Amino acid sequence: MPQLWKGRFKKELAKETNDFNSSISFDSRMFEEDIKGSIAHATMLGATGIIDKCESDKICAELSVILDEIKSGKLSIDMDAEDIHTFIEGELTSRLGQTGKRLHTARSRNDQVALDIRMTLKNEIDEISEKLKALVLVLCDKAEEYKGAIMPGYTHLQRAQPITFGHHMMAYASMLLRDIDRLNDCKKRMNVLPLGSGALAGTTYPLDRNMVADLLGFDGVSANSLDGVSDRDFCIELASALSLVMVHLSRFSEEIIMWCSWEFKFVELDDAFSTGSSIMPQKKNPDIAELVRGKSGRVFGDLTTLLTVMKGIALAYNKDMQEDKEAIFDAVDTVKMCLNAFTPMIETMTVLTDNMRAAAAKGFINATDCADYLVGKGLPFRDAYKATGELVALCIDKGLTLETLPLEEYKAVCDLFDDEVYTAINLEKCVADRLVEGGPSTQSVEKQIKLAKQAVE
Ligand code: ARG
Repeated sequence: MPQLWKGRFKKELAKETNDFNSSISFDSRMFEEDIKGSIAHATMLGATGIIDKCESDKICAELSVILDEIKSGKLSIDMDAEDIHTFIEGELTSRLGQTGKRLHTARSRNDQVALDIRMTLKNEIDEISEKLKALVLVLCDKAEEYKGAIMPGYTHLQRAQPITFGHHMMAYASMLLRDIDRLNDCKKRMNVLPLGSGALAGTTYPLDRNMVADLLGFDGVSANSLDGVSDRDFCIELASALSLVMVHLSRFSEEIIMWCSWEFKFVELDDAFSTGSSIMPQKKNPDIAELVRGKSGRVFGDLTTLLTVMKGIALAYNKDMQEDKEAIFDAVDTVKMCLNAFTPMIETMTVLTDNMRAAAAKGFINATDCADYLVGKGLPFRDAYKATGELVALCIDKGLTLETLPLEEYKAVCDLFDDEVYTAINLEKCVADRLVEGGPSTQSVEKQIKLAKQAVE
């Protein structure tokens, strides 16, 4: 397929240069967006009289045929073409002759590619948002089911205070809801039409940019043509939002991996989402969670690639910017792939509530509540804290827990203690009393679930 820019050149491009220069291997996935963008452009050229209306109609009709043929597999994309824009325009011209050559009036590949990436990424954002919403709903279901399942909450990976598994699930739901918000926010800024920017300096033709924006579902048009063709902030923002998605999935994965270990055994993954070992017959490994954790590195790498590609290039378009696509597509594909495996893995995992409850009983995680009990009796918190600390040390010495320590021992440390202390440090009560908004009590978690579901809808 000949280059679009052959006019001034006397020699063919060297084979190596052509391969190096070509982007078709990774931009062919934008064929639909490219064609739809061209149809909108041609429609506007006809409506404004920049080209003849009949010719515009022919161009649009033939572009639709080309789109159908690519989708059905009747027309295959020529991988020797320089890029998807060259291929589509070449195909159109080979079918329509002179008429096809009018499509590129008042347009450059610079504003064309800026348009195509925006259109492609807007769709990708919608798809990823849907996948994130599905995961949030799975977490809401888990939270509903396990809102009463006591588990130890940790700080420093040391048992800290009692929470429930439902509360823990809703923490991840909160993170993912922010991720969805960030993606939509990023889409807003992306949703500006760059077409009409030309190569860099706009055009002398009387374009109706707003008409094209309306046809393609953009909120408005870019304000400056240099910026219109050379802005890739939206790719960087998206890669950054996706990096945060991966941070969240990676932390979650880390917990799943720990919880699957015999040391915890809080959850068991379904066989369909675990793998075995080729040598150790007893093994059941959380490979899916490990891969999600590992793949986060790719997405952070993509973000770094994009930042580095963009940081030193003078305005406006430079070929460096062709590097945007592999990076941002890799980030998008990785996140989608991870969510496709992660969501059903969470949905099907078995939660071992007895093991969680047993772990919660061992770590003195009701010590704060014991201190709060003394505060209720009138002792200042610092004194209550110190007395409880002594009790914990005593329990450790005697191999007891706060629940099994006899009342005399309590009284020996502080005479404000009476029988009610055992009710005060009961784990179920400790959780139930944490009615504060955002807390682990059943009512509070129910409210979190309700809000999350509302946000998803
Ligand atoms: N394949 C190119 C890219 O992805 C399209 C734009 C080409 N523009 C140019 N001036 N060479 O960036």
